[in-house]
Amino acid sequence: MDYTEINLDDYTLSGEGGNSLVYSHKDGHSVAKLFTNKVDAEGAAEEFNTSLLVYEMGIPTPRPIRLVSHNGQLGQEFERIENKRSYARIFSQEPQMIDPLSQRMAQMTRQIHATPADTSKMISMKERVYSALKFGEPSELKERMARFTDTVPDKPICLHGDINIGNIITDGKRTMWIDVGDFSYGVPEWDLAWSVFFVKVVPENICLDLFHVGKDILKQHWTVFFNAYTEGMTDKERADFEESLTPYMAVRSYTFFIKNFQKDVMPHPMNEIIEEIMANTKV
Ligand SMILES: Nc1ncnc2c1ncn2[C@@H]1O[C@H](COP(=O)(O)OP(=O)(O)O)[C@@H](O)[C@H]1O
Ligand SMILES: [Mg+2]
Repeated sequence: MDYTEINLDDYTLSGEGGNSLVYSHKDGHSVAKLFTNKVDAEGAAEEFNTSLLVYEMGIPTPRPIRLVSHNGQLGQEFERIENKRSYARIFSQEPQMIDPLSQRMAQMTRQIHATPADTSKMISMKERVYSALKFGEPSELKERMARFTDTVPDKPICLHGDINIGNIITDGKRTMWIDVGDFSYGVPEWDLAWSVFFVKVVPENICLDLFHVGKDILKQHWTVFFNAYTEGMTDKERADFEESLTPYMAVRSYTFFIKNFQKDVMPHPMNEIIEEIMANTKV
């Protein structure tokens, strides 16, 4: 894959994610997303190819343009969405929007989860999990996670892979998913569990850093989102479904962390919570 070296004098910093800095080009038409974590050329190219596939499938997401680099930092260039705000930003500024937008996000999530996946072109979430579990030293925790993952079916439907309120943006007319590099296929539990992880496990200070909102707002969002996503279920079915997400949440968050930060212990208190969940999971 070819990387185009960019000159940051032509760009201004315009956004920040958990793993990247996003710069807008002075022509106004594109943004360059440069990874701040350890991503090798192959990893960056894989993420770019995934973004391209997602775009070509017709999922609403900014058009990927090319792979870029700057002083050894790798990244991707995308069509710039002008005057966008993430749902996270909107919730922090206009809490009355939590209800309607969380419902909209649930419908958009259901749309992804209703899209059949071409398994010859995409990798499964189970493969992502197994490949992350190979990092570092073997451990009891990793073995339990692998055994749990063995029990999960490989459903050929699409998953976003990183659904959270920072990865959905709107310019007032269109609503789009961003950060689609972990797009995969599998059971919807993986996506839902990742969303509930922020509500149930991530500490307040990290939520504020990532999303500009605290846990109270995240909880409010999750309740509306999950009720809308599970529309038609009885309260008991919904509660059981939410409970069943717990081991997925542990495995998905731990393997996301390993892949992105190349460390096999999550920061306190998340690691302790994840260990306890896996200790209580029958595998
Ligand atoms: N195509 C785009 N147009 C405009 N802004 C964008 C675009 N893509 C990302 N951004 C901005 O950059 C931020 C981080 O992007 P994201 O892809 O979520 O990175 P990360 O993987 O680090 O979370 C977003 O919250 C958004 O503000
Ligand atoms: Mg993001």
